[in-house]
Amino acid sequence: MAGKLIIGNWKMNTRAGTAQALVQSLLADPVCNQPWVAVAAPAVYLAPLAGSLNQHALQLGAQDVSAFAKDGAFTGEVSAAMLQDIGCRYVLVGHSERRQYFAETNPALLAKMNNTLAAGMVPVLCVGETLEQREQGGYLDVIFQQLSILGEVGDGEYVIAYEPVWAIGTGKVASLEQIAEIHTAIKTWCLQNAKPSANIRVLYGGSVKAENAESILMTENVDGALVGGASLDAGSFRMICQAAGKLI
Ligand code: PGA
Repeated sequence: MAGKLIIGNWKMNTRAGTAQALVQSLLADPVCNQPWVAVAAPAVYLAPLAGSLNQHALQLGAQDVSAFAKDGAFTGEVSAAMLQDIGCRYVLVGHSERRQYFAETNPALLAKMNNTLAAGMVPVLCVGETLEQREQGGYLDVIFQQLSILGEVGDGEYVIAYEPVWAIGTGKVASLEQIAEIHTAIKTWCLQNAKPSANIRVLYGGSVKAENAESILMTENVDGALVGGASLDAGSFRMICQAAGKLI
């Protein structure tokens, strides 16, 4: 697939005012206000931001979704139908912070993927090994185990984000060789195990910054980036989008 996809993951940051200001600067900038750029904002700010993004190319994403499909007595949950209703296009599923702090595992993540697809949005399944798993050498098996739910997901478009846990928010970036190895392994696994109709993009995430974006985005089988910290700064995010725009 031609073109790169850039998704900013704001995590639990911003307030109503700063979220709006950040989106306004991205909207005012043709480098960022593109259909292949999205921001995944905190749940409470999605609806007002969706109002600002209306009629613009920039896309909106959620950081999580309920594993429960239907409305009901699930206090605190936000369903896929609700996210779709207010205008989200992407939903992060199984980010390593969700796996680590909220004990999310494959059965719930499969339900989240399917709920997102059924609501007509694009799930972004996040996978990646911890430092310990990398050092022990079994990191490909860890990633394949996380990918295994793709054999059971419904039809539709989805994205995979490879984010080595040891590179998230640490300033440590995987080497281009490491990135190419994993991305190629993920694509090969998908060809053999995922639905043939699935047109799968694989993003890299983990300390992507203005300075390293271009070389990462030019790496074999890298279809875009999932950007955490650097997406909170309009100037840095702009430079990442600019690097991606050059490669279209
Ligand atoms: P980071 O986060 O860019 O701050 O390392 C990436 C992510 O967790 O998606």
